[in-house]
Amino acid sequence: MRNSIKISPSILSADFSKLGSEVISLEKAGADYIHIDVMDGHFVPNLTIGPEVIKKLRPLTKKIFDVHLMISPVDNFIKDFADAGADIITFHPEATKDTSKTIQLIRKENKKVGISLKPHSEISLIEKYLSEIDLVLIMSVEPGFGGQKFMPEVLEKTKNLKDIIEKENLNVDIEIDGGINFQNCSLAKKAGANILVSGSTIFKENKGDLKKNIEILRKN
Ligand code: DX5
Ligand code: ZN
Repeated sequence: MRNSIKISPSILSADFSKLGSEVISLEKAGADYIHIDVMDGHFVPNLTIGPEVIKKLRPLTKKIFDVHLMISPVDNFIKDFADAGADIITFHPEATKDTSKTIQLIRKENKKVGISLKPHSEISLIEKYLSEIDLVLIMSVEPGFGGQKFMPEVLEKTKNLKDIIEKENLNVDIEIDGGINFQNCSLAKKAGANILVSGSTIFKENKGDLKKNIEILRKN
């Protein structure tokens, strides 16, 4: 069923000295997707991993690679991330001169298309593309770092987006990303998110019991 609740742990909070075994542990712990935060130190003030690392992680799991590109310019890297094994490629509209072109570039690689909205970016920035994409990633923190505090003001935007998707009978998932924890996960779902990204809560709570933490986020 398209809109069942899915948990997408962010490996930004994983132990980078053993990313391979961390991804395998996430699969064993019941993760639905693996959220991979790609940062270029230009679009956001942080630098993480690129296509070569994703290529090495790909054979370790069949789980969906939910790749969040916080890079600009983004177009010239779409094919590299697709070839590396991304399944969903999500970009920020502020990172491209032509959103439609970037959508087409991802489609051409037969990958699912996501567009991300920063906390203060309005739905109007992406509304006209909703019929062409698979997922909207609502940022509930300013992109760039894990472990930040959830910004509850994005819940209203999430509700409004859900209303538009339902009214226009579109098949678009809503993923929420940033500061998701055991206390606010139910608010995110009530607002309309059906995919929850979490890094620090999943890797740090309950002494890092991945399975328990994923289950609590899914059930609450
Ligand atoms: C931030 C990333 C998020 C972040 C989530 O720019 O896009 O995916 O890693 O981590 P937590 O859950 O710790 O906020
Ligand atoms: Zn992310």
